[in-house]
Amino acid sequence: MTSTPLQLYFVTAPGLEATLCEEVRSLGFHGAQAQRGGVSASGGWSDVWRANRAVRGATRILVEFASFRVVHLSQLDKRARKLDWGALLKPGVPVRVEASCRSSKIYHAGAAQERIETAIREAFGSPVDDDAPVTIRVRIDNNVCTLSVDSSGEPLHKRGFKLAVAKAPLRETLAALFLRQAGFAGTEPVIDPMCGSGTFAIEAAEMAAGLWPGRARTFAFEQLATYDAGRDPGVSTQERTVPEGVRFYGYDRDENAVRMARENAERAGVTDLTVFKQQPMSALTRPDGPAGLILSNPPYGGRIGNKARLAALYRAFGDAARRDFAGWRAGLVTDDEKLARATGLSFAYQSAPVDHGGITVKLYLTARPA
Ligand SMILES: C[S@@+](CC[C@H](N)C(=O)[O-])C[C@H]1O[C@@H](n2cnc3c(N)ncnc32)[C@H](O)[C@@H]1O
Repeated sequence: MTSTPLQLYFVTAPGLEATLCEEVRSLGFHGAQAQRGGVSASGGWSDVWRANRAVRGATRILVEFASFRVVHLSQLDKRARKLDWGALLKPGVPVRVEASCRSSKIYHAGAAQERIETAIREAFGSPVDDDAPVTIRVRIDNNVCTLSVDSSGEPLHKRGFKLAVAKAPLRETLAALFLRQAGFAGTEPVIDPMCGSGTFAIEAAEMAAGLWPGRARTFAFEQLATYDAGRDPGVSTQERTVPEGVRFYGYDRDENAVRMARENAERAGVTDLTVFKQQPMSALTRPDGPAGLILSNPPYGGRIGNKARLAALYRAFGDAARRDFAGWRAGLVTDDEKLARATGLSFAYQSAPVDHGGITVKLYLTARPA
């Protein structure tokens, strides 16, 4: 059931598929194609291990291991009992099952889930548990049942370094993809003048240094029968040298946020490449060194503050970008186009809308100077 090549599915937030696809291709995964909600590619189990550690933009990586037509629950039950679960699952490791149904004769996801759980428990003997480290995803779509295993476990934005979080933190996976959309290739400085827990600056520093995002965490694939620690090359370091004078800056008016950002950077091992300082937006000035990218995710949304105050903050961002940053690009991630416009900047690029924890945000970006 786990013969090569496997179908890998890199999950992302809708709107970011094309950007994730570029990243997956750039890392050499075979046959990468953007699809709704993710990117498909093919490979073997060692590609799955590398993908989890190296890809910055994916939320999780699913590996398909069976697909068949099904119209009755009894059929689902029979097919599920015949699968070679032992080729995928390790005896004794608990498993959980999640099911969804769409446009199919089997329409009750709970019943489908229960059939697969029973098959695993009775035909293979694995315990089924809501807190299990391994999740099997069952998708029944147009009467085709596809079974995948989630090879990631904890979502991949949990790199393992951001233990301290300020208000409304940005997910690392989104930050990485917005950096990529903004044309960041690891060779220019990045400044986030409202950095919160430091996500943009830390992510940019890691990208510049060639550090794999999953270098210090564990993954669900380690709990599968397909995992062979002896054949796992682990994390490879690319030893990329960050150009002279290029640093990654994070400022915030909140001293707690700055402290957290520093601690997060230290855990990530990028203290030498990052500069965090308590400073209000209005005090932003250009650092010495080459031109680069100002990229921020300022406060937004009614619950955080009143519109007039927020508009003034966005205006201050635009004023600083115009006043002191000739030759730089400026980008904002926000849910409010009016606030983006309040900067007075002229944007050459606007991303597709992306869901971030129930809020739809977009990246607004000025043109790369000629
Ligand atoms: C949405 S949060 C940024 C979250 C950040 N991207 C992260 O991943 O943690 C907005 C940040 O802007 C900061 N902020 C608000 N007004 C500011 C100002 N006038 N000057 C500097 N920072 C400000 C807040 O303290 C908050 O940390």
